[in-house]
Amino acid sequence: MPETILVEREGRVAILTINRPDKMNALNDQVRNDMLEILGQIETDASVGVAVITGAGEKAFIAGADIGEFAGRTPFDQRHAMRSPRIFDVMASFPKPVIAMINGFCLGGGCELAMSCDIRIASDKARFGQPEINLGLIPGGGGTQRLPRLVGTGQAMRLILSGDMIPAAEAQSIGLVEMVVPAEELRAKTLELANKIAAKSPLTLKVAKEALRASERLSIEDGISYERDLFCLCFSSADKEEGVKAFLEKRPAQWTGR
Ligand code: COA
Repeated sequence: MPETILVEREGRVAILTINRPDKMNALNDQVRNDMLEILGQIETDASVGVAVITGAGEKAFIAGADIGEFAGRTPFDQRHAMRSPRIFDVMASFPKPVIAMINGFCLGGGCELAMSCDIRIASDKARFGQPEINLGLIPGGGGTQRLPRLVGTGQAMRLILSGDMIPAAEAQSIGLVEMVVPAEELRAKTLELANKIAAKSPLTLKVAKEALRASERLSIEDGISYERDLFCLCFSSADKEEGVKAFLEKRPAQWTGR
């Protein structure tokens, strides 16, 4: 396992900790490559139901892309660094739920990575922002597209054009995070939700996530039609038979993921 990312297991939950606390867990090429490698491993590991992404130390989730790598880079170098597959897209389309456990500064590429996750849970000490404008840049990890989808165009304009940082409570009030909890409860509350989700049928979770992600690109008519197809597809699964049978027999379902 690479040292830039620590991997822990708790039941069916894999916790991935970006481990560059002295650099505020900034995303460099190494971290991005290692993250892709680990995501590839947990994608095929049937014992993992949910992934949680967090940052090492108490100060930062991720303070953005590693600014040190930008100095002197040509557009060609940068294009190569941003080649597919990109962690943001891999995470958004990952077949298992991914939760961002946001323990501190969540800036730039860090905020974009959090937005690529399915659910964001933040410590009350976390701070959010897209400060690229202060570097003569714009967000490059999907921020101009994912932020307005989460918080609306006006709030996204405010954050991206000003580069301002906002506290966790405000991030929640505009819809950038789903839950804010006291810092000392962050891990417990995140794992509580992660374990709850990981206990569901992995097959059905995958289909639910696919339907929800489709809502980001399809018209309402096409999305509802797609949902109907996926709903009916669930009728081919052993888990649908089991879920319905277990309800009728008043017992907990035993999922097999088939
Ligand atoms: N890239 C590279 N290094 C970073 C970094 C980043 N995005 N964010 C922080 N660091 C480094 C600092 O350079 C410093 O390294 P050093 O000790 O070797 O000098 C270390 O992390 C600690 O950061 P520091 O700035 O001293 O901490 P702070 O508490 O005063 O401020 C931040 C924290 C997050 C507000 C500040 O570091 C910051 O503004 N970071 C850049 C955020 C940003 O613009 N992100 C978008 C990038 S596109």
